[in-house]
Amino acid sequence: MKDPRGRVRIAPSILAADLGRLDAQVRAVTAGGADWIHIDVMDGGFVPSISFGTPVVVAARTSTALPLDVHLMTHRPENHLEAFVCAGADAITVHIEAVQNPVATLRNIVGLGVRAGITLRPGTPVSKIWPVLDLVDLVLVMSVEPGSGGQEFMPETIGRITAISDRIHDSGRCVDLAVDGGVNASTARSAVDAGCRVLVAGTSVFGHPDGPGNGIQDLRRAVS
Ligand code: DX5
Ligand code: ZN
Repeated sequence: MKDPRGRVRIAPSILAADLGRLDAQVRAVTAGGADWIHIDVMDGGFVPSISFGTPVVVAARTSTALPLDVHLMTHRPENHLEAFVCAGADAITVHIEAVQNPVATLRNIVGLGVRAGITLRPGTPVSKIWPVLDLVDLVLVMSVEPGSGGQEFMPETIGRITAISDRIHDSGRCVDLAVDGGVNASTARSAVDAGCRVLVAGTSVFGHPDGPGNGIQDLRRAVS
């Protein structure tokens, strides 16, 4: 099916990669047709787990030329923006619940020369992001509670994607709408039908029994 809104992009999340073979895993998804590499940074405060930080962004940068899409699940992400840009991030997404001053933070991200994204927990009203919609290049809709991979896609996310997609459409701006959490060949279609154009996927790509390239292909097939 031809979609006038453009091709759906796939952003494998390296949270589900074998970090002992990060270089090979990033190269595999790059060769397998990934569009972005999604990097989940967790601080053990904003979310219970700790994942990784700037050294992993530096490492990923040496393995691919694809855009590095950094998702900061940290308190006070505004304190770390420059470090992630220096490490090689091409986009930085912050949680509306975590930033003290969302407007200033998003302007800082843009001022650092990378794309600015906003995201929100599944329980946060979508209207919380309306005041910053004009400042962002990307909205990341969480379809699981942030903090770990391998969770089930929350079906109520679909209505949230529709509401945000409508709002973006009304604004006339070009904003990437992405979904993150539990995205697989069964759940991707409904997210895309609701207006989502970027699929973040960890387990369904890196955990695919036939390898990450096949994981990407399955997702593409599901939304084409
Ligand atoms: C969740 C992360 C997601 C996660 C997705 O806190 O933001 O990016 O890695 O993993 P899967 O696809 O396994 O749900
Ligand atoms: Zn993420």
